Amino acid sequence: MAAATTETIAVLGAGVMGAGIARVFGAAGHRVRVFDVRAQAAAAAAASAGASAHDSVEDAVAGATIVLEAAPERLELKRELIARVEAANATAIIASNTSSIAPDALAAGMREPARLVIAHFFNPADTVPLVEVVPGPATPQESVDRVVRLLEGCGKTAVPLAQQVEGFIANRLQAALYREAMHLVELGVATPEQVDLAVTAGLGPRWALAGPFEIMDLGGLDVWASVTDGVFPSLGDASAAPAMLRDRVARGELGAKTGQGFLPRDPEAAARFAARLRALIAALER
Ligand SMILES: NC(=O)c1ccc[n+]([C@@H]2O[C@H](COP(=O)([O-])OP(=O)(O)OC[C@H]3O[C@@H](n4cnc5c(N)ncnc54)[C@H](O)[C@@H]3O)[C@@H](O)[C@H]2O)c1
Repeated sequence: MAAATTETIAVLGAGVMGAGIARVFGAAGHRVRVFDVRAQAAAAAAASAGASAHDSVEDAVAGATIVLEAAPERLELKRELIARVEAANATAIIASNTSSIAPDALAAGMREPARLVIAHFFNPADTVPLVEVVPGPATPQESVDRVVRLLEGCGKTAVPLAQQVEGFIANRLQAALYREAMHLVELGVATPEQVDLAVTAGLGPRWALAGPFEIMDLGGLDVWASVTDGVFPSLGDASAAPAMLRDRVARGELGAKTGQGFLPRDPEAAARFAARLRALIAALER
């Protein structure tokens, strides 16, 4: 598919996210240039995206109009990488895929902080439609608009935020739900399996079609005023990771990647989930 405007996009970091992001841009007909400190990862990602692999940041960003940074979630590492991009390419928009670093922290050491914007994809990046676009304090609206248009041209659903907030939109909503999920288990009200079933058999299918505001409108705001009055006072209000999460991490029970999380999980669980998610999203497209 040829994009309306063909951009030259450098993807820096070709791990879980960068490889998928490179495929999103490649499939939309953009010229994609990939760099990773692991040359093999760059080569594999480039091959899957119809992109070129490069053996330095400077080479990868040469001529790029957009740089998509998908390196590990470490502030200093990202800052150094962004500084190298700025030194090698004076004009490209620098879009970071950070999940948790505030744009002002990333932009703090930049020569031109206005060049930075956050484009937050969701794993698997080439499957989940949503990308949150978050401006830093200096980002001009036209850069946000340009990144939104680019993403929409790739078939993504871009949601621009008016300003930065920890966790952006989706991870905040997710964190609020996970806090209550663990609270219910710690209270002894339900097991992890029962909480998961309440989501997969009830809330999840509805949420694939309608968000919380539409669900409230459909149910009746009077009903939701009563529900929130009745339930809010008893909700968990932990302000840090609860013991049931912290203790498992301390024991090395990290989920599918170690075979044990809240429940035993085999290492293939994540790949099976990704395949089922792809099928579900394809079925929902209309
Ligand atoms: N995994 C997720 O679910 C997810 C979702 C949304 C956003 N993110 C964000 O995306 C970014 C990347 O996460 P990931 O899960 O793909 O991590 P990852 O560890 O799978 O990939 C990171 C890649 O960056 C490479 N790398 C290391 N140092 C580098 C450098 N200096 N220059 C270029 N490449 C370098 C590594 O070799 C690796 O291939 C992080 O900021 C993360 O917070 C992750």
